Amino acid sequence: MGLPFIGETLQLISAFKSDNPEPFTDERVGRFGPIFLTHLFGEPTIYSVDPEVNRFILNNEGKLFESSYPSIIAYLHGEYSLLLMKGNLHKKMHSLTVNFTKSALTRGRLLLDMDRLMLFCMDSWSPKLLLLEETKKAKNLRKEFLLIVEGFWSIPLPFFSISYKRAVKAKTKVVEALKLVVKERRSARDEGERKSDILGAILDEKADDEYSDEMIVDLLVSLMLAGFETTSSAMTLAVKFLTESPLALAQLKEEQEKIRDQKGDNELLVWNDYKSMSFTQCVISETLRISNIVGAIFRRTLSDIQMNGYTIPKGWKVLAAIRGVHMNDEYFKDAQSFNPWRWQGDAEMTPANVFIPFGGGPRLCPGYELSRVSISIFLHRLITKYSWEAAEEDKLVFFPLTGTQKRYPINVRPRNPSV
Ligand code: HEM
Repeated sequence: MGLPFIGETLQLISAFKSDNPEPFTDERVGRFGPIFLTHLFGEPTIYSVDPEVNRFILNNEGKLFESSYPSIIAYLHGEYSLLLMKGNLHKKMHSLTVNFTKSALTRGRLLLDMDRLMLFCMDSWSPKLLLLEETKKAKNLRKEFLLIVEGFWSIPLPFFSISYKRAVKAKTKVVEALKLVVKERRSARDEGERKSDILGAILDEKADDEYSDEMIVDLLVSLMLAGFETTSSAMTLAVKFLTESPLALAQLKEEQEKIRDQKGDNELLVWNDYKSMSFTQCVISETLRISNIVGAIFRRTLSDIQMNGYTIPKGWKVLAAIRGVHMNDEYFKDAQSFNPWRWQGDAEMTPANVFIPFGGGPRLCPGYELSRVSISIFLHRLITKYSWEAAEEDKLVFFPLTGTQKRYPINVRPRNPSV
């Protein structure tokens, strides 16, 4: 359990700041089994790398467990963020987000707009760039979002932590900007104007203004924050893994070039193109498995709970460590190696509860398809427009967020300057 109060927090942080955090989990699993008691961030914490227990924890959200993130993350997301909402309101907003995303991708213009934006961003690329920076460029208020994300793991004491102070200031700026947008859109809606984006869907859902501006703004901030760092890290790491795996890159190139050959040079991608990218999906699954963008999910028990012969007292923290499962040789042969072919056909049958990069149960990530689509578009455009190589050695890190130490510097060249 480690030192009083601090417990094993420092050991955990130092393991996840390296490119090989596995020993932290493996040592404890070796001594105590796949569910063990530790002490993290000031609290006794049950740490589980058992896939069935993890699934049980996620599926019982709102009944036996509830979402419980460190207070600084909660504060920066806002009271009405989807991540913190509870009960019926959460259910309603979660399904609204999932349904909106699904229909905007399959029937709306979202995919076309994302592809257009990708082309626009890539057009401004310089020959040497930091890929992790470029994958975050397509967002307004980008600087503010970066500062908020940096504040997630800071110490929430205004006098001591500069990153905390900066994060709070940035959050205020984002909130003010979005408040204005919500106000304008409410009055436009009252005059009969309809827009087919997520804000339009929320305003239409409750035309009688039951949802306050404050609530809608928190919800929008949380959607943007949750999608911002996660998807850009996954894009960057997919490129890193592909660069280090020439066979996988060659197969992906073949798939993407075939799609491009069937279309006009700059013709935008549509839903059917995305659905035909089968090897690309294997690359994305393998990237998510091995990088574990979200490595663990935090919950708190709502009552005393019996699990595997033990009682977990009410109010205790429980951590469903997804990473510990994804990196276990028992579930994924040679788990440390990047092997997208493991996802092909029936090459490896993974039980549904073993691969859960997007969580599960009532809080299953509402952006799961959206992020797969944007990573696919990004890979399509990168591969068909550019060739590249790593400009420097770079290493993965997993704390405070998953990424690489140097933001993955690469040298890029247009493959066919006339296209
Ligand atoms: C590679 C990209 C992504 C990964 C790996 C990822 C992973 C996750 C995971 C594991 C959760 C579950 C958290 C929990 O149960 O407490 C989650 C929740 C969430 N994600 Fe994602 N996510 C990604 C992209 C996105 C995108 C693009 C969006 C934008 C729509 C998004 C929005 C959210 C939201 C709002 C939640 C909270 C859902 C709730 O509590 O009901 N995510 N994500």
